[in-house]
Amino acid sequence: MTKILITGGCGYIGSHTAIELLSNPEIEVISVDNLINSSAQTADRVGQIAGRNMKNYQVDVCDKEALSEVFEENPGIEGVIHFAALKAVGESVEQPLRYYQNNLLSLINILDCCEKYEVKNFIFSSSCTVYGEIDQLPVTEQTPTKEAASPYGNTKLVGERIIKDFIAISENVNAIALRYFNPVGAHDSGLNGEDPINKPNNLVPVITRTASGMIPQLTVFGGDYATRDGSCVRDYIHVVDIAEAHVKALEYLMEGKNEDRYEYINLGSGNGVTVLEAIQAFEKVAGLELNYVVGDRRPGDVGAIYSDSSLAKEKLGWEARRGIEEMMASAWKWQMNLNEGVAV
Ligand code: NAD
Ligand code: WQD
Repeated sequence: MTKILITGGCGYIGSHTAIELLSNPEIEVISVDNLINSSAQTADRVGQIAGRNMKNYQVDVCDKEALSEVFEENPGIEGVIHFAALKAVGESVEQPLRYYQNNLLSLINILDCCEKYEVKNFIFSSSCTVYGEIDQLPVTEQTPTKEAASPYGNTKLVGERIIKDFIAISENVNAIALRYFNPVGAHDSGLNGEDPINKPNNLVPVITRTASGMIPQLTVFGGDYATRDGSCVRDYIHVVDIAEAHVKALEYLMEGKNEDRYEYINLGSGNGVTVLEAIQAFEKVAGLELNYVVGDRRPGDVGAIYSDSSLAKEKLGWEARRGIEEMMASAWKWQMNLNEGVAV
């Protein structure tokens, strides 16, 4: 069995990746998640969908001793995917030290364990947020990173740098930073998806909750951008496509296909979709009209950002397969299952 440790395995992207990893009977998945933004039921959902369980430790990655014990109990871990982080941009502005403490200390601890326990392959959840204010589209991996607009964004920028400095002296570890654009959608089964514990700010949970009546009305943040319909353009990417990319990235490192010991790869669809187009796609697949108004711009939003995804195709043999309608249909199926108590 190939042992893969994932941090944040009960979270949105981690749980979908666990399902994909478990579909390979040769892989054992060990998750470390303190459930600060998720619930233990997610581990059950993963097991239900995958047909076998991941082992989940309710441990804080910032707790070095407890983390080391997980490595001691599971000798021979071959790869680590580090998802665990706090991720709410607005909250990070209000609680910067909490974000720096959680996101950076957890990264330092997991890298330390990788070195000590001779884990050769490391994948980091990074974000398109490292590109900051964009001058040129689409965004390639050569696009310079910019000063971060929020403490959260800075934890990704600094996190990438910490890995770079670490890899330069590491005896064992090779790494990839995967820079996700806008992950959305849910598992095709409708049995796993995003269920924000706090008030959702991201577009797709706001759409599905508005359609469910949990939020009275959606506000489109800005209708006066220099885009085809005035609303912001983003690169939405189906969470199952993202999960599949992690499996390919791990294989790529484990098969020694990397040219550099540390590489950066964008994970996006390569397509820009406006907020109004996303809403139309939702209305089409859900067969209903969404209650929305076009309002003011949201401070800090960039008008348009989307990826050049050719490097992921070239290096990992991966490209996004699911379009915006599939993303919306799966998110809606998941929301309806939550509403009806089919999923908990
Ligand atoms: P999520 O909040 O659903 O999952 C993160 C998981 O990590 C949660 O289950 C949480 O309980 C756990 N966690 C946080 N801090 C921890 C700690 N110190 N110890 C143990 N567990 C801890 O978030 P997600 O959307 O699945 O994001 C996963 C990763 O991808 C994060 O690093 C995030 O910054 C990054 N990312 C997410 C997006 C996005 O839009 N969802 C975009 C770009 C990058
Ligand atoms: C998408 C679009 C909004 C809600 C965030 C993080 C980024 C990365 C991905 C982690 C924007 C519009 C939204 C609403 C709206 N995460 N919108 N009404 O801001 O592109 O990126 O998630 O690394 O760092 O900042 O995602 O889903 O919040 O917004 O009009 O009620 O939807 O203005 O154009 P964003 P989002």
